[in-house]
Amino acid sequence: MDGNGRWAKRRGLPRTEGHKAGAKAVAEVIKMFREYGVHHITLYAFSTENWKRPPEEVDALMSLIYRYVDKVVIPEIKKNDQLCVRFIGDKSRLSDKLRKKCIEAEELAVGRPFVCNVALNYGGRDEIVHAVNSALADGHTEVSEEILSKYMYTSHSPDPDLVIRTGGDFRISNFLLWQSAYSEFIITDTMWPDFGRAAIEKCMAEFYSRRRRFGGLDPEDAESEE
Ligand code: IPE
Ligand code: MG
Repeated sequence: MDGNGRWAKRRGLPRTEGHKAGAKAVAEVIKMFREYGVHHITLYAFSTENWKRPPEEVDALMSLIYRYVDKVVIPEIKKNDQLCVRFIGDKSRLSDKLRKKCIEAEELAVGRPFVCNVALNYGGRDEIVHAVNSALADGHTEVSEEILSKYMYTSHSPDPDLVIRTGGDFRISNFLLWQSAYSEFIITDTMWPDFGRAAIEKCMAEFYSRRRRFGGLDPEDAESEE
């Protein structure tokens, strides 16, 4: 969900106004992907590196996330029995108040058909280190891909088919490093607060036009070799 700051700057507004506009964009995005039949969506809300931002911006983001969970996420899960939320990342660095709110939202429902993962104090490298340490603590002396996958914060969700980055930057920024090994990537210049219906339709058309081979061959190419 990149581009909130630039969206605000272009309008002569403070960055925090961009984050507020970004939060407003979330509900429609989730709704649209559900209409497309996407059962698992992961939103990158705050990375392990975002603590480097000025404390005022970090505080504003944390308060905004708290309010969003309290006023939007929890009521929505209560209202809609198809939805549940999981927070992925290291919750230990969050304030007690925010951590408790996140856990309250998670515990409202588990295993519903539509899962929204919110990456909060999330880093892909941090997740891999955490997974290895958890496996060791459970007595594993050696790990495999299957074992490590079970220790990832995302063990309840499949690997993503598609990763979309808004804001136009071509980098992964420590997002789902383990899980995105064979994901399709789309980088769009649209800033996150503007990422709505039209932008999503474009992304989905692009995704469906991709041929995924997962390191193998297209079935028709394999046939012509025979
Ligand atoms: C939102 O966009 C990402 C969050 C950490 C919430 P940015 O704040 O990174 O916006 P830009 O990249 O400065 O435009
Ligand atoms: Mg950014």
